[in-house]
Formats: sequence, structure tokens, C-alpha cells
Amino acid sequence: MSPSFLEDVIAGLSLPQKALPPKYFYDAAGSKLFERICRLPEYYLTRAELSLTRANLASLARFAGRKCDLIEYGSGESLKTRLLLRGVRPSAYIAVDISPAALLGAVRALTRAFPKLNITGVAGDFSRPLKIPVFEGKTRRVVYFPGSTIGNLTPDEAHAFLRMTRGQVGAHGAMLVGVDLKKDPTVLHAAYNDSRGVTARFNLNLLARINRELGGDFELRRWRHYAFYNAPLGRIEMHLASLKKQSVAVGQHRFSFSEGETIHTENSYKYSAEEFRVLAASGGFAAPKLWMDKKEQFALFGLEAS
Ligand SMILES: C[S@@+](CC[C@H](N)C(=O)[O-])C[C@H]1O[C@@H](n2cnc3c(N)ncnc32)[C@H](O)[C@@H]1O
Repeated sequence: MSPSFLEDVIAGLSLPQKALPPKYFYDAAGSKLFERICRLPEYYLTRAELSLTRANLASLARFAGRKCDLIEYGSGESLKTRLLLRGVRPSAYIAVDISPAALLGAVRALTRAFPKLNITGVAGDFSRPLKIPVFEGKTRRVVYFPGSTIGNLTPDEAHAFLRMTRGQVGAHGAMLVGVDLKKDPTVLHAAYNDSRGVTARFNLNLLARINRELGGDFELRRWRHYAFYNAPLGRIEMHLASLKKQSVAVGQHRFSFSEGETIHTENSYKYSAEEFRVLAASGGFAAPKLWMDKKEQFALFGLEAS
């Protein structure tokens, strides 16, 4: 049992609007469910980012620069990374993820596919100071942050993350960030409310994980996945709604929920290209390159340290 998980759950369920940090979605079961989400017909994000990466590989490789050190945050199954590694041919690849299960699987598969590449997996939380293996000398450092993971951070958290990364890559470093763009809210709504119910299972797995790891007694059938686009804030919000008045124990603690009360479990911010450029600049990056898929649903920004 991780003490910080318990502390974060107690703190989050004590807020007026109860909330849980989305990083706890990703135990082994959650990572598997997320991989299934990426393959759902409604979840356009992965397909759009894969297709724009495939279509622009030569230009992406020129931007990253051959023999760079590539560090990926929130690497998960490293699906798009396979394409990028073929094009960029970095001298080292470092994958960082909070989910040891996903990381291990990805590093094993990549080691088989790229036997000559220097690959390191770091199981850790990028929202805290992390020890990344020291890079050699003057090699250009490029941070890869695909999958709209930056959208799961609040604008303040995203700003802090960009600042941290800017410090890591140094004056000649760069960043490739996958950003989901503002669009028709019905397309967004469908992506987070898939017809097969996989996103619902992913969301509910957070309560199951609290039961497994923290001695919680959430009854999953008393909770419903609830996701909607909050247009004024430009974000999808994911919640778990209590279907009735109930009281739930987590270890020694007890929490009451009224009927319809929700636990806010995730945000997924959507940006316009201009909004993201402003955010990147606040974090110390210029955004000279922007690649988009054909439908202009998703963008990959090439950021240079400024
Ligand atoms: C939205 S998924 C994206 C996965 C993959 N990069 C992609 O493009 O499909 C977020 C990934 O970041 C990881 N993650 C989430 N919060 C994290 C944190 N605080 N520190 C490290 N990894 C985290 C998750 O385990 C998951 O693999």
C-alpha cells in the first residue's frame, strides 16, 4: 500500500467537490483498460496522433535531430513511440510512467523491436521531482509527451510541468507535445462516453483500486460514470456519480455521499493552437512547429527552449 495514495484519497474525498487525482487510474488493470480505450472507434485521439506522426515522420525527425536523447513522460504502451523511434533514431530512449506494469511491458517489447537502442524505463510520478538517468555531454534532449496527457493537467499544473521540462532539456533542448484541439462537443462527448462502456470501466476501476489497495468498501453498482464537456473551461470532466445516499469506508475513514453527488476524477483540457502557444511560452518554450492530422482534430507541437 502506498501511503501517498491513501493520503491523496483522504484529502480528495474531504473536499467540498470530492475529487481524486487521475494518476491513480493507472494500476495494471487501469493501464490495460486505457489501452482498450485507445482502440475504440469513438476515441479519435490515438488514431489522429498516429496518423499525423506517420505522415510527418521525416519532418519530426529533422525537428528532433538525429542521435538526440528522447525522454517520454507517461509512455504507457509506447505505441506512437515505435513510429517515432524508427524516424528519429535517437541515441537513447527513456520511458517514464507511473504504471510499473505498463512500463515493463513497453520496455520489453521495445527492447525486442530495437535491440541496438539504449532503452531505460523509469517508474515514477512526473508531478514530483524525478531522478532521470543523467545524459551524456552535449547531446540534444527532446521530451516526448504524446496522448494529450498534458490535457489531464490543469493549466497551472501544465505550466509547472513545462517549466520543469524546460529546466531538464536545457537551452538547446526541445519538446514534442500531443495536444487535443477544441472541436464539436458532440465528438468530444462520444469519445469519453463510448458505446461499449470501456471508459466507464476505466473510471470505475479507480474505486475498485481503492477497495483493493486501501481497504475501501465502495459498491461499484452504486456508482455511474459521468462525463461531459465544460465549454467555459474548455475541458471534458469525468466524474463518478453516487446513485443513492450512501456512506463509504476507506481504511479507518468514512465518507458520506448524497444522491447524485459526484467525485471529480479527471479533466481533459482541449486547446486552440493559439491557446497552447501562449501556455508553452509561459513555460519557456517557443512553438515553431505544428503538425496536425487531416481532420485537424489533434496537434503535435514542436517546442524549442526559448
Ligand atoms: C492519457 S495516457 C497516455 C498514454 C500514451 N502516452 C499515449 O499516448 O497513448 C497517460 C499516461 O501517463 C501515465 N501517467 C499519468 N499520470 C502520471 C504521472 N503523474 N507520472 C507518470 N506517469 C503518469 C499513465 O500511466 C498513462 O500511461
